[in-house]
Amino acid sequence: MANWDFYNTLQKGEDKGVLSPAEIFFLLSSAKPEEEELLFRTADRVRARYVGEDVHLRGIIEFSNICIQNCLYCGLRRDNIHLPRYRMTPDEILETAERVQGEGMQTVVLQSGEDPWFTGKRMAEIVSAIKQQTGMAITLSIGERSYDEMKAWREAGADRYLLKQETASPVLFRHLRPGRELSQRLARLRWLKDLGYEVGSGNMVGLPGQTDEDLADDVFLFKENDYDMVGTGPFIAHPQSPLAGAANGRIEKVLRVLAITRILTRDTNLPATTATGILFSEGRRKALLGGANVIMPDMTPEKYKQYYDLYPGRSQPGMKLKEARGFILSMERTVGQGTGRRRSCFIQPVLSVDEATDSSDLVPPDFRAPE
Ligand code: 5AD
Ligand code: SF4
Repeated sequence: MANWDFYNTLQKGEDKGVLSPAEIFFLLSSAKPEEEELLFRTADRVRARYVGEDVHLRGIIEFSNICIQNCLYCGLRRDNIHLPRYRMTPDEILETAERVQGEGMQTVVLQSGEDPWFTGKRMAEIVSAIKQQTGMAITLSIGERSYDEMKAWREAGADRYLLKQETASPVLFRHLRPGRELSQRLARLRWLKDLGYEVGSGNMVGLPGQTDEDLADDVFLFKENDYDMVGTGPFIAHPQSPLAGAANGRIEKVLRVLAITRILTRDTNLPATTATGILFSEGRRKALLGGANVIMPDMTPEKYKQYYDLYPGRSQPGMKLKEARGFILSMERTVGQGTGRRRSCFIQPVLSVDEATDSSDLVPPDFRAPE
């Protein structure tokens, strides 16, 4: 396709917020360097227009690395016998949540492997105690659980739930997550929405066997299912997993997926993910410049942190809170106040088109498609 096809497809994405999987694939796979730059600038403009300059901080507590699943890509998989396992007590989780609030954050993310010790009842008690003590927004990221459990946690005070689709390819999903089906995952994402959670999905980029068509389907689903949050990051091969030695995801591809997701989903909360920062030192900065508006500082107690070994680098101390604040200000952005709910309740974008960054750079006249 000629260059103007790229610009016009991009323009259509920005104007309408909808593209077909084939059009997403085209943007994802064909951008040359100057077109890629334009893609990132467009994502940045859409970000400024719909969610403004705030970068929201979410304190993440990785409270258990025990998991009954056996995902091929993950260091916490149950067959990884080399990993020492830990489980924080409910009191430790509550104390850490209070520390998150003490540091000035208003959202806590409770993340773990799929650990059955945290029954519906135990987890509901933890959620309710945190809510009562702190009033913070509570996000759960604890895997595929039953409808009744998810309902009980919502009633106990959980506000948000992260459950990444991981890949929109049913075949790849089945291969990488033995015994699990993409359809079951997507059904749970629908339950969560029905239960009134703000719902987060996401994917990994560069999984062995994943194609650009698969990635385009990922982005298409993010838009179609209207998720409130989307976390996208590179696959990083874990040496103690069946995928040891596989190539890592490429950062350029991650940034493209992120940018197109921003352009289409408008006001979704998009984190500059830890994996993106680990694989490439400038990854987080580039993510914030290309559509992202959330950072999740790691608040897991130091003694446990090293064992939350999802992928190489993850178990090293993540971005600390002070560092995150300085980083946001160094990028001339502002630290979000409040809980940072998705703004879809606002009918108007934050800025009008004219107030947002000048969009005249989008389509050079020479590249306009003939009418
Ligand atoms: N590389 C990148 N991300 C990974 N995750 C798990 N293993 C890896 C890996 N090897 C991510 C998955 C999961 C989250 C908890 O961590 O997306 O949803
Ligand atoms: Fe468990 Fe999640 Fe890792 Fe799969 S990705 S093994 S469910 S922690």
